[in-house]
Amino acid sequence: TLILSLMPKKKKNSKNLIWGSRFKSLPSEIAVKYTSSVNIDNRLYKQDIEASKRYAFSLKEAKAISVTDYQKINKGLNKILKEIKSDKFTWSDELEDVHMNIEHSLYKKIGGVAKKLHTGRSRNDQVATDLRLFLINAIENINNKITKTQIAIVRKAEKYYDSLMPGFTHMQIAQPITFGHHLMAWFEMLERDMSRMEETKDRMSTLPLGSGALSGSRYKIDLKKLAKELNFERISNNSVDAVSDRDFVIEFLSSISILGIHLSRFNEEIVLWSSPQFNYIKLGEQFFTGSSIMPQKKNPDVAELIRGGTARYIGNLSGILSLLKNLPLSYNRDMQEDKRFVFDSLDHCLKSLEIFSSLVDSIVANTKKMREDCNLGQITATELADYLVTKNIPFRRAHNIVAKIVSYAEKENRQIFELSLKELKKKSKSIEDDVKNYLSPESAVKAKSSIGGTAPNQVSFQIKRAKKLLKSRKGNG
Ligand code: ARG
Repeated sequence: TLILSLMPKKKKNSKNLIWGSRFKSLPSEIAVKYTSSVNIDNRLYKQDIEASKRYAFSLKEAKAISVTDYQKINKGLNKILKEIKSDKFTWSDELEDVHMNIEHSLYKKIGGVAKKLHTGRSRNDQVATDLRLFLINAIENINNKITKTQIAIVRKAEKYYDSLMPGFTHMQIAQPITFGHHLMAWFEMLERDMSRMEETKDRMSTLPLGSGALSGSRYKIDLKKLAKELNFERISNNSVDAVSDRDFVIEFLSSISILGIHLSRFNEEIVLWSSPQFNYIKLGEQFFTGSSIMPQKKNPDVAELIRGGTARYIGNLSGILSLLKNLPLSYNRDMQEDKRFVFDSLDHCLKSLEIFSSLVDSIVANTKKMREDCNLGQITATELADYLVTKNIPFRRAHNIVAKIVSYAEKENRQIFELSLKELKKKSKSIEDDVKNYLSPESAVKAKSSIGGTAPNQVSFQIKRAKKLLKSRKGNG
């Protein structure tokens, strides 16, 4: 079989493998299939080859292999990379994983020299290296897509920076805000997601190679140089930790989960706002689907599926946590399962961000309906209390007075701004004509000019800062 070629020539009866010679019998076909991970981890091929090439170079520098050995290995690996990229590579279950598939192919290309590549290396430090490299790149992709989403959000926020809408707490009308202000809250959430990703990436940037199976290496490899060549910030301090550690996977899946929770909350709002009862926004028709039974339906399926996809991120996070809990140090084969969680969350998250940014692009606000709803729920009751404070009434007392005014208005089936001065005065003698300036949603919004507040000039400021940030990011990236 395939693996025959990698084992010492003599003992052809014990047919496996990579580790074959000490075994008297082969693992059953079913065991081979069961333990194989190549269908999943072959996605790491680029990182695997890159790390192997650099590692071979380090072996040469350390005089563990000759210059010509290195050249052969390097050339062979380059060929393999091309083959895989052009889909000419045959992956084999029997060869367990991406690492053995590539090494075997190298053997077929350059012969026995291929067997020197694994000097001082184990698949334990190899897979940990590959996965870190893969995730560092994945985070860069995610962050680019987050930036794209933020750009779409800021563009909308700019358009609606002074459009009034009711702000909600407990899903009840609370105080008026602007739609742009609400959208900029989304921007901030994504900004934290991005910095979380960056921090995750930074900790991830630690090179495990040189740790071997778990105890380190006897070869005089310049690990600092190797780390630099592979763009790692540092080398690991402890070889046992280096092959045991999957904290970086937990952190990655945790960061994706938090990002997912944000996406889910945004899309929950989109689902609500686009319903006929709210009728606050219209989305591009391309993001809806119809119903197979109800001809009138336009369902916001894309938004729902972004929301629903978050359940997968949480499931995968919980998966990696369960996988690692109780695992003794150092490497255990259980860890091979980590990649399923990673790839599933990553792929879905990238797709979600991609479609979400076009979804945001397509939002058209029904500013008229949003403004109309600011006439509901006694939305400026707090402003009236603030007004009484200007008349030297302590806030708690003012609150009490306004509560009574609100009860009265509700009984009358009116809003407090519809009450006459005479009616208001009955509840508090301190109320005068200038109260008008406090009761309209417009004036309420304008007054909230604290930093980060909803006053349009503050929202403008937030937007300006955000645009500057995005511009500098584009320049860097
Ligand atoms: N496929 C394994 C993984 O993904 C690679 C390491 C295997 N190491 C071993 N000693 N069997 O974790």
